[in-house]
Amino acid sequence: MPLIEIADVRHVVGQAGARRVVLDELDVRLDEQRIGVVGANGSGKSTFARLLNGLVLPTAGRVVVGGFDTRSHGRDVRRRVGFCFTDPDAQIVMPTVAEDVAFGLQRRGRDRAEIDATVRRALTDVGLDHLADSPAHSLSGGEKQLLALCSVLVTEPDLLVLDEPTTLLDLRNAARIAEVVAGLRQQVVLVTHQLDLLDAYDRVLVFDQGRLVADDTPAAAVAAYRALMA
Ligand SMILES: Nc1ncnc2c1ncn2[C@@H]1O[C@H](COP(=O)(O)OP(=O)(O)O)[C@@H](O)[C@H]1O
Ligand SMILES: [Mg+2]
Repeated sequence: MPLIEIADVRHVVGQAGARRVVLDELDVRLDEQRIGVVGANGSGKSTFARLLNGLVLPTAGRVVVGGFDTRSHGRDVRRRVGFCFTDPDAQIVMPTVAEDVAFGLQRRGRDRAEIDATVRRALTDVGLDHLADSPAHSLSGGEKQLLALCSVLVTEPDLLVLDEPTTLLDLRNAARIAEVVAGLRQQVVLVTHQLDLLDAYDRVLVFDQGRLVADDTPAAAVAAYRALMA
């Protein structure tokens, strides 16, 4: 299980004259199995999430996942950290459901029969096996998010980072995603506005204006977030 080490991170975007500090004074070590992230729009949650797989490199400070620095060992980090975006269309890349799941495996050079069996198993795990040969873009929003999750999981990441994966979904589909995520052996970092998803989490981080303002149990962190928003 990877330990996430974030040391003195500051992240600044924009050009001279219009520079903006998006994250500042971030210094945490995270080794819990289930970590939640909450905060207002624009508070820096997505930037934080993207730091964890090297999609964003910090302007200052270090991010180390499982012993690999995201700056010097980006490939090693990305091989171990799966990432799901809010909008599943952003990561569905192949025409059919099965092909999309197989895509990540082909890049890892496995043989055809092994890939087919692994894809079947992965689709069954998320309840999409009956849609294996359907066009990916014909799926409902919830099914697409399950597909995106499946395509990430099949590559067997050690850490899964989910950036508001249920925001576009209705309650039933959101519950389905939550159920699949709850059953994972992986370490999970979940960014969400659906606070009840975090009830059983080990630790919840609250961001406000680019700073980590609370880091606590779900109940205490959610109370701090509510107080902040009141
Ligand atoms: N590459 C970028 N260029 C300009 N602004 C950015 C960039 N990345 C993030 N920001 C800004 O930083 C702030 C925090 O963004 P983000 O991490 O997406 O917050 P959240 O996910 O909490 O809504 C937002 O105001 C956003 O517009
Ligand atoms: Mg965001």
